Amino acid sequence: MVGEILIKGVSKTFERTDEQAVQALKDINLHITPGSFVSLIGPSGCGKSTLLRLIAGIIKPDSGELYLDGAAIEKPNWDRGFVFQRHTLFPWLNMRQNIAFGLKIRGLYNKNKSEVDEWINLVGLSGFERSYPHQLSGGMCQRASLARALIMKPKALLMDEPLGALDALMRMNMQDEFLRVWSSRKMTMIMVTHDVDEAVYLSEKVIIMSPRPGEIDRVIDIRLPRPRARSGDNFVAYRKEILDRLHFGGEKLEPNYYL
Ligand SMILES: Nc1ncnc2c1ncn2[C@@H]1O[C@H](COP(=O)(O)OP(=O)(O)OP(=O)(O)O)[C@@H](O)[C@H]1O
Ligand SMILES: [Mg+2]
Repeated sequence: MVGEILIKGVSKTFERTDEQAVQALKDINLHITPGSFVSLIGPSGCGKSTLLRLIAGIIKPDSGELYLDGAAIEKPNWDRGFVFQRHTLFPWLNMRQNIAFGLKIRGLYNKNKSEVDEWINLVGLSGFERSYPHQLSGGMCQRASLARALIMKPKALLMDEPLGALDALMRMNMQDEFLRVWSSRKMTMIMVTHDVDEAVYLSEKVIIMSPRPGEIDRVIDIRLPRPRARSGDNFVAYRKEILDRLHFGGEKLEPNYYL
């Protein structure tokens, strides 16, 4: 299995003109096992997106190292797919062209043409191949973004609040979609979310981060069989454990903490 991510002593500070520098991440150490589903959760501004961007290779750490399957991460590459909160489909390409885009620019399209249709089918978009993003719903665009990233067969899929813009029911449908894709094509999934239920429903590990500078506060292993019952006692117990850790358990008011 591929997709092992190793993060060793990573810190990142952003310099800002006219303002004090912000230390976004401090001494992050993480080992993400190949093929696992991991969620990052923590207050706004604690460095979740920064950590994801570092793994993507979009930005570089000030100190520390990141590895994917033993190779140092230095720049973006096809072996890491990225899905953002709002879809980033090209408005001038139809849904099928958007999904095929990566294959085309890598010269792999002719050999893998049939995979485009397979992915369209897998994310439930058959029949909408010729629709443009503005003619699709938010959830459909997000599913197309997922297919566009996955068709490149990344070792790791990095998702930054991928379902944040969707309504609650669509969100739950998409969570099942993620699980279906993940179980059929085992790859490492790292997802930033603000939704505690979503983290418990999907993940094998939930990584809780503390606010500025962002540090790993706790890693919680979710040992629940699948499919997971959202209202089961064990599910609710994990939910409570995470909320308590985020100071949202309801027993203590911490106005400085917010999601
Ligand atoms: N390019 C940048 N330049 C300056 N500061 C930045 C930059 N990117 C992030 N920061 C700062 O780093 C800190 C962490 O930001 P980041 O976007 O990683 O937080 P986050 O945990 O993803 O928050 P949210 O949940 O609101 O998305 C914030 O204080 C932010 O202002
Ligand atoms: Mg963010």
